[in-house]
Amino acid sequence: MSEVCILNHSLLTHKITLLRDETTDVRDFRQLLHEVSTLICYEATKDLPLVDKTVKTPICETVGKVMKNQPVLVPILRAGLGMMEPFINVIPAAKVGHIGLARNHETLEPEEYYCNLPADISEREVILLDPMLATGGSGSAAIEFIKRRGAKNIRFACIIAAPVGMEVVQKDHPDVDIFVGCLDEKLNEVGYIVPGLGDAGDRLFGTL
Ligand code: PRP
Ligand code: URA
Repeated sequence: MSEVCILNHSLLTHKITLLRDETTDVRDFRQLLHEVSTLICYEATKDLPLVDKTVKTPICETVGKVMKNQPVLVPILRAGLGMMEPFINVIPAAKVGHIGLARNHETLEPEEYYCNLPADISEREVILLDPMLATGGSGSAAIEFIKRRGAKNIRFACIIAAPVGMEVVQKDHPDVDIFVGCLDEKLNEVGYIVPGLGDAGDRLFGTL
């Protein structure tokens, strides 16, 4: 079974509470999403594979470690885009793929409308980005699409998850580790996370 890492950090808890607040406007929502994603990035990248590299310091030669490969960031459109820049700030040479998925608001099933991934994705670690893991349908489908294109090592970074969505992704993809800022209580009858933060894409892009 995959690892589920629920981050426990006062700064993160503080910022997620502000993200949830319905009076937080678009500008502050973007800024907070950026800050929260940066904190999650550190945890989600803690065990990226490293290889030896010999460098010469001003004092002597030493064998250090560097990343084996640049990872591929894959934000799930739209809301995942809000997590991309903070991850790129920390991993500036990362490759980026995109997957466009939208939940059909009646069936709650994810529908794919775009997919563009690096050709060498099979050789790289993939970090899937989406702030919300609700029913798990979008996350699970996105992982399935990426796997079909050859990805072998995938981890999923999100900000708020519902227990049921987490279970779905774990059951469908037991090889994918999940890093989440907060595990919420449940879903409501229309598939929103409770207490959650509402529709992340709408709040990020001001399309409420
Ligand atoms: C949201 C969110 C996830 C999905 C989670 O996207 O960003 O992708 O819902 O829900 P699920 O776990 O039940 O699939 P949405 O479909 O609203 O699209 P958007 O980002 O374009 O607003
Ligand atoms: N997608 C969102 O943006 N928010 C939720 O609560 C559930 C799915």
